[in-house]
Amino acid sequence: MGKDVIIALDFDNVAQVDAFLGNFKKPPFVKVGMELFYAEGKSIITHLKKLGCKIFLDLKCHDIPNTVKKAMAVISDFDVEFTDVHAAGTSNMMHYALEGLTKTNGARKTKLLAITQLTSTDEETMQKELLIDKPIMDTVLSYALNAKNSGLEGIVCSPYEAAKVKSVCGEDFITVTPGIRFDDSTKADQKRIASPTYAKLNGSDYIVVGRSITLAADPVAAYHRCLSEFLT
Ligand code: C5P
Repeated sequence: MGKDVIIALDFDNVAQVDAFLGNFKKPPFVKVGMELFYAEGKSIITHLKKLGCKIFLDLKCHDIPNTVKKAMAVISDFDVEFTDVHAAGTSNMMHYALEGLTKTNGARKTKLLAITQLTSTDEETMQKELLIDKPIMDTVLSYALNAKNSGLEGIVCSPYEAAKVKSVCGEDFITVTPGIRFDDSTKADQKRIASPTYAKLNGSDYIVVGRSITLAADPVAAYHRCLSEFLT
């Protein structure tokens, strides 16, 4: 299984993406989230593929099973590396999602991940506001097991939960971890944050890094700092 740094392209439009990626010698693994996809649509995927980028399409689908299945059937034609649904949508919804992502000839390139608890949610908010009366680790592990038993390849969780998820779901179960900050940077809206080094030591397969790279004075240097902390 590959280990890599995925840059969250949380930009408003393709012009900003091109200005940013123009700094890089080799096309990085990138994440396209809601704001960019809603602004540009499928053309942003075609564009990034032409540039040679691997893509995580992060639309965090969560709806009735049939709707998610149909959305995934559309995404199956994009041939991206990863896409995702919310595990909170239930195991039934995840089964449907996987069916939608599998093409009529039985082939499936895109690996499906489940969002467990967002890294912007801390345990207190989860318990008080979402009324989930458990430790956050337990809910992440329970969602991870549901995802695994539904046939998904992995989950998105915080770096703090990655090793435990691996011990429960197996080494091959992919852990993708956002909420990454260098020890010397700010949290912004994220809560369960950790450094690339911590993520490496605690079992993350892929780290997702947005603002620590995109807002850095030297984004390429920040990317290489992530690569060297995470991969070496
Ligand atoms: O800028 P920052 O590094 O905080 O960006 C993190 C990225 O990862 C955002 O695009 C966000 O949508 C995404 N993400 C997250 N937490 C999750 C899943 C995805 O922060 N659980």
